[in-house]
Amino acid sequence: MSDDKPTLTTRQGHPIRDNQSTRTVGERGPATLENYQFLEKMAHFDRERIPERVVHARGTVAHGYFESYGMIGDEPATKYTRAKVLGTKGKRTPVLVRFSTVIHSKDSPETLRDPRGFATKFYTDDGNWDLVGNNLPVFFIRDAIKFPDFIHSFKPDPVTNLQTPNRQFDFISQTTESLHMITWLFSPRGIPADYRHQEGAGVNTYKLVNEQGDAVLCKFHWVPKQGIKSLTQPEAEAIQAKAFSHATKDLFDCIERGDFPEWEMRIQIMPDGPHDELDFDPLDDTKIWPEDQFPKRPAGRMVLDKNPENMFLENEQAAFGTGVIVDGIDFSDDKMLVGRTFSYSDTQRYRVGPNYLQLQANAPRVKVVTNQRDGIMSHRIDGGDNPHVNFEPSIQPGAAVEAPKNVVEYGE
Ligand code: HEM
Repeated sequence: MSDDKPTLTTRQGHPIRDNQSTRTVGERGPATLENYQFLEKMAHFDRERIPERVVHARGTVAHGYFESYGMIGDEPATKYTRAKVLGTKGKRTPVLVRFSTVIHSKDSPETLRDPRGFATKFYTDDGNWDLVGNNLPVFFIRDAIKFPDFIHSFKPDPVTNLQTPNRQFDFISQTTESLHMITWLFSPRGIPADYRHQEGAGVNTYKLVNEQGDAVLCKFHWVPKQGIKSLTQPEAEAIQAKAFSHATKDLFDCIERGDFPEWEMRIQIMPDGPHDELDFDPLDDTKIWPEDQFPKRPAGRMVLDKNPENMFLENEQAAFGTGVIVDGIDFSDDKMLVGRTFSYSDTQRYRVGPNYLQLQANAPRVKVVTNQRDGIMSHRIDGGDNPHVNFEPSIQPGAAVEAPKNVVEYGE
């Protein structure tokens, strides 16, 4: 034991004097069962994994910031939204971004022909906002009830454990709305070169709501300053022959050497309403909004400048969901979006646990005051100032009360 090195301890805080051998009765054994230090070390190892994500299991994260232009195109952002994260020029909001592939497992190659996830968690002054997008601007289906079937057909066959084109095309040949996305997937954009050279798109239609309660429909996009690069099938195969984590390595190495990747947020906007004049439904996520009619208006930039310190805490336990929005950003009637909004937080309560929002990656950077208590691995009381009061309404001092109603409620 050297003076300048910390002493190894058990998780109970007891110093460890021998980490290299199990205690035995005789010189050769048998081992004794009261060897608590061994039991603790092994038992913890046995529990080191949580279930991987049912989709998007393979991915990596980086930290950075979003800087608002205070404008959406050439108009003040406040004309469209009261969300502070977008409204103030130069305002920086910390972000956690997770890039991913969709179909295969946690350690699968990053060279596969597969959409790439692009999920951003904004730790805003009004609580968290998650923009959970992909690199491609449309999706395979427009009704959430089809999602489990769609994913099953793309996942490996339950008998052979092999991804099988016949299963995929069996499903999509009968799901004709998937043709647009399939065309993207089998186009030269189908295999992004890495995570830095890909676009991002929120895909589903949201709303922006301003201080007066007026709403517009909108779609969010990320445009990489680095440009867009993709791999041909032979290029992808050549990389895969030697490396299966090339995109994770690329992102990590770039940030490590100070070459920070950057994206511009652009927003498409159209008035709220049914839009019978259009030959497509703006709530249909299998369609793009034509840019000549609905230009992508710059709204801010995002820079990723910090690598994670621990992949488990910041990547495995990170939980993004479409239900996580802030005042000034709202859901549209897009029914896919509602289906997604149930699914994400539901799976995270199972995958990470009911207190997943207390964890480092997911906790907002603002004070959380809730009467929700207890449950597995609760390690903090996010209550008001009176620890006795875990209910509302209450007239007791220090009890948390509802926020004032918004001056103009959306829809009034
Ligand atoms: C009804 C349709 C959909 C359902 C039910 C659904 C469901 C899910 C689920 C259950 C997860 C795993 C979350 C976790 O374990 O933390 C997930 C991850 C993800 N989904 Fe979806 N999804 C849908 C459509 C989409 C669409 C349209 C996009 C793109 C805009 C998308 C992008 C993502 C991304 C990026 C992740 C990974 C998030 C992360 O990095 O942790 N999904 N989805």
